[in-house]
Amino acid sequence: MWCQPRSLATAVGAAPVRPRGTVRPRGPHESGAPDRAGGGRRWCHYAAAGVLAGLVRGQRPGHRARTGAVVSSMAAQDMGILLIEHLNLNVSSTEIAVEFYEALGCCRDERRPLTKTLHSNCGALTQFHTPSPENEAYIADAGPQRWRGTIHVAYDSPAMLEAAAQRLRTLQAEERFASTDLTLGEWQEDLQELSVLGPYGNRFLLHVAPAKLDALGPRCGARPGSEKSRCLGMDALTLEVPVGTAKKAALFYKEVLGCAVRDVDGCADGCAVLAGPGLAQELRFQEVEGCSGKEVGEHMAIYVNDFEGCFQRLLERGLVWVNPRFVHLDKSTTLEEALHYSCFRFKDVVDETGSKLFELEHEVRSTSHKSWPLAGA
Ligand SMILES: [Fe+2]
Repeated sequence: MWCQPRSLATAVGAAPVRPRGTVRPRGPHESGAPDRAGGGRRWCHYAAAGVLAGLVRGQRPGHRARTGAVVSSMAAQDMGILLIEHLNLNVSSTEIAVEFYEALGCCRDERRPLTKTLHSNCGALTQFHTPSPENEAYIADAGPQRWRGTIHVAYDSPAMLEAAAQRLRTLQAEERFASTDLTLGEWQEDLQELSVLGPYGNRFLLHVAPAKLDALGPRCGARPGSEKSRCLGMDALTLEVPVGTAKKAALFYKEVLGCAVRDVDGCADGCAVLAGPGLAQELRFQEVEGCSGKEVGEHMAIYVNDFEGCFQRLLERGLVWVNPRFVHLDKSTTLEEALHYSCFRFKDVVDETGSKLFELEHEVRSTSHKSWPLAGA
């Protein structure tokens, strides 16, 4: 079965957003709700989730358990990805990035001067990191980067999403954004979602969150300085991958990172979505004809509970990798070094034979990392 997505181009420049809060919100986590902003032909969706599920049990000593319904929804597993925390995407101008992400509903981490890489809090727990040549000489000639897929941002209500859309339209009308890619698509009333092309060509899907996104905070905790954020967070990422690799990739995340994976209704013939318990976030693999699977220098930061186990399994497969760009932050090649930095990296996703499926730089952190957003929760 071929699940035909609507291209962003067909949605752009159409009717204004008209959310009406009476329609039941329906998020992309729900069965049969395809990612509308993707551009592929053949869809194979697998999601590696895990996400927040282990935040309570099995944590390092000293972490306080959270209480109430959030605990019960997050305690489903000890393994897997605790949090997809940030995307790191180069931009050409910090000023443009600040304005765009704030219009989106994020708030700048004001503890960091703008001479350093911009961190925009997207909800209580997730972030966008947008280095520019203005503050990082290493990328002086690199140019902006695009996430190879779709970035899903959740909002608390149709009104909050509508407000974001209005802010983005205001930016769109400003001269300094005229030469950027910033474009808004057509509001999808039935799905409660809106496609947005960011100023540097990143594809965003803004949507009204299902109630289960309570797990993204702030009830379960929040990063200091994120209180002004007007969105709930980055709740899903769709990554375009080569045909035939989605299911194998899901198995990689299951075996190496301990993620829960599952099929999702709506696709057949190998097209499916895997998701894990909690369902607060998803990493989806969307198979696209002709996709090379090569990284473009972007990275995704994740927190894992079984930090040592993940490191060892990746080391055994020869996948631990040091990014020369970030050796001032971490350069882990041994477990001792990984524990020292509370961080290591890998970028090759492989099948069971060790053959590379595609690339995606993962910045893997433990909950001992200084930036763990729930350290004080
Ligand atoms: Fe990072």
